[in-house]
Amino acid sequence: MLKELVIASHNQGKIIEIKNILSPFDVKIYSADELQLPDVKETGSTFAENATLKAETLSSLSGKACLADDSGLCVDALDGRPGIYSARYAPNRNFNIAMSKLIDELQASGSTDWSAHFSCVIALKTPHTPTRIYEGRINGKITPNRRGNNGFGYDPIFIPDGFDKTFAELSPEEKSTVSHRGRALKLFLDSEFNGRNL
Ligand code: IMP
Repeated sequence: MLKELVIASHNQGKIIEIKNILSPFDVKIYSADELQLPDVKETGSTFAENATLKAETLSSLSGKACLADDSGLCVDALDGRPGIYSARYAPNRNFNIAMSKLIDELQASGSTDWSAHFSCVIALKTPHTPTRIYEGRINGKITPNRRGNNGFGYDPIFIPDGFDKTFAELSPEEKSTVSHRGRALKLFLDSEFNGRNL
C-alpha cells in the first residue's frame, strides 16, 4: 500500500485539500517544502506533461511516491487559452487583472460563444511504477459579470454547466463535487486506494 506521499506543490491550500481527502487512509503526507524539494519549472506543453514532469522529478529526488497536479481554464473562442498559462496570466497572482484580460480578449474575438472548461491532471509516480495519470474536466461558460466571493483564480467568471451560479458562488463542498480537481481526485482515490496495491 502507499505509505508515504510527497505533494509536488508549494501551495498550502492545495496541500491542505489533499491532506483532508487522504485523512481516512494510513498514508503520511509530505509537502515539497517539508523535504526542501525545489520548485519544478512547468516547461511542458500540456497539463499532463507538466504534472508528469513535477511528479517524476520530485519522486526521483525524494525517493518517495509523489503526486503532482496541473490545472487551468481553457476558453474555446480563444483557442484554449489561457490553458497551461492560467497562473501566468495573473501578474503577481492578481486574478482581477487576469480576468479583465480574458474578458477583453473574448470581447475582441467577436465570438458570442463563451464556452470554456477547467481541466485538472493528476500524475502519480512511485519509485517502482510508471507514472499514472488521472484527468478531471468541467464544462461551462464565461460570464463578463464577476459574482461570488468563494474559491480562487477565475472562479467569479466561470458558470459550470447545470448551474446558474459561478464557481465563486458555490460552497467549497458544492464546487468539489463537480469541479475538475474534485473529479480528478476522485478517479485517483478510486484507483489508488480502493484495493490497488502500490
Ligand atoms: P496550477 O495548477 O497551480 O499550476 O495553477 C493553475 C491555475 O489555473 C491557477 O492559478 C488558476 O489560475 C487556474 N485554476 C485552476 N483551477 C482553478 C479553479 O478551480 N478555479 C479557478 N481557477 C483555477
